[in-house]
Order: sequence, then C-alpha cells, then structure tokens
Amino acid sequence: MKHQHILSINSLTALDAKQLIERAITLKQRGPTHYPNLSQHSAAALFYENSTRTLMSFSLAAQHCKLPLLAMHMQHSSEKKGETFLDTLLNLHAMDYRLLIIRHPSSDLFAPLLSQLPSDLHLVNAGEGQHEHPSQALLDMMTIMEHFPAVQHLKIAMIGNIRHSRVANSFQRLCALFGIKHLRLIAPKLWQPTQISTGEVTENLSEGIKDADVIITLRVQEERLAEHEHMDRATYHAAYGVTQQTLALANPHAIVMHPGPMNRGIEISSEVADGPQSCILKQVHNGVFIRMSILERLLAT
Ligand code: CP
Repeated sequence: MKHQHILSINSLTALDAKQLIERAITLKQRGPTHYPNLSQHSAAALFYENSTRTLMSFSLAAQHCKLPLLAMHMQHSSEKKGETFLDTLLNLHAMDYRLLIIRHPSSDLFAPLLSQLPSDLHLVNAGEGQHEHPSQALLDMMTIMEHFPAVQHLKIAMIGNIRHSRVANSFQRLCALFGIKHLRLIAPKLWQPTQISTGEVTENLSEGIKDADVIITLRVQEERLAEHEHMDRATYHAAYGVTQQTLALANPHAIVMHPGPMNRGIEISSEVADGPQSCILKQVHNGVFIRMSILERLLAT
C-alpha cells in the first residue's frame, strides 16, 4: 500500500512491515548498483532532540539514494522567534522539500497536524516523545530475522525502562503484527508500562530471560523520569543489568540487542555488549538499509 507518511507501526499492515524489511535485506545483499535514485526530490531532517544513529543513518541512506538531505539545526530555527511547528513544515514545503524526517520530545506531535499538511509532503517519525520510533522497530526486527528467519515462535525478552520507551512501544506493535507470542517485558515496578500492545510484564529478570532467544535491553532514559521514578544506577545494574551471569540463563544461541545509546555498566556490561552474542553494531548497520527502504517507499513513484 502507498503511504504518505511513516509515523507509527500502528499505521502499517503486517505485509507493509514485511515488505519494508525484505526490501532492506535485498538492498543490503545486492549493494549500490541496486540502490534507488531519488535525486529529483529534496529532504530535510528536523531533530529537536539529540541523535547519533537515527540522524546519521537517515543521512547516509539519503546519500546512497542520491536524495539531497539537509539537517536543520533546530536550536537556530525561527521557532525560537515564535513560529509554530506547523508553519515550519509548511515553509519547508514551500521551498519544495518533500520529505521531512523529524525527531521531537512531544508524544503527540503528528496526529493533530496531519489534516493540515499538503498531500505531497511526507513525514517520517524519527522518534516522537514516548510514543513511537518505527524505523528502530523495523531495524530491530530485520536484525532478528537475519538470525532467526521464523520469528513467530521466538522467545523475546525486552528489559528496562519500558514505561517511557518509544522503542518498546513500536517493537511491541511490530511483534503483535508478526504474531510473536512470547514477548516478555521485564522492568522494575516503577518502569512497567501502563498499557501494552502485546507481551507479558514481569519484574523478575531471571524468570523473564530464561530460555530467551533474543534479549533487548533498553537505556534507562533518565531524562524522561519523574522525580519519584529514579533508581540508583548500581541497584538497577545489580537487579536488571545484562551481564554474563544473566545471559547464562538465556538460550545458548541467544542474541543480545540494544537500540542505543548504550550506558555501559548500567543496563549492560561491557563484556556482554562487546561479546560474541552481541548484535548491537549489526542493528546500527541495518538501520541504514531500513531507512533507505523507508525513503524509497515514500518517494519512489
Ligand atoms: N536508537 C536511537 O534512536 O539512537 P539515536 O538517539 O542515537 O538516534
């Protein structure tokens, strides 16, 4: 199906998600001679929050597709002089930017604006508050599928601050789309989600990680915690850190993932992050191909 925007996993069908991932795998396997040519369009990246992986991989994906992409420094934008976010988008559209990749701290940014956007302006959610981060979920699933082509029966353990995580929200929705039955969401009570799309919530790391095929650990996301939600870092690491000791409870063939940025010694030990079961840098590598697949889906005619 042709989409105007890619803003959430919720707006994709299972077939859409599968096609985006399969296309990314094909682009990765076939290499530059197979990359699409999107040179007739212009794109901009509007990041209101810090980023290394998402910004740089969308930029490289655009470069691979010959798509001119400029990153706007939002701390210097005219929104600082009172212009609205919607007016920023409309002004960029007036300059003929046709695709905008946006990261923003607000969890309800896109939905209220959609009816006011021109039909030839495409938005990509590069991380929307605590709501969704769809390209991250797609690259995470691509990484899992490269290791375990039949994902439906996998046991997947996601550990950490699930409550505040847009990565966890998008990933749960993608697991639901793909019919993945065994998703365990492991978090201390303080960081357990108030709503889930799929999975079982537990505060017991040993039980949750037992026999897991895939372990995804999340950053603590201190900046999103309310005053009463903070936990001592050493206490958290002792109870929920992924270490060699906790990894020993999972399946011996389990892979370890982290969306980044990673806080070594808090949610994961360096031994595991740099160990043979870690797929963390593979996720980052796959991000470039997922993002090429997204750009192509929205812009190619
Ligand atoms: N995973 C992720 O979104 O990383 P960045 O914040 O570095 O983009």
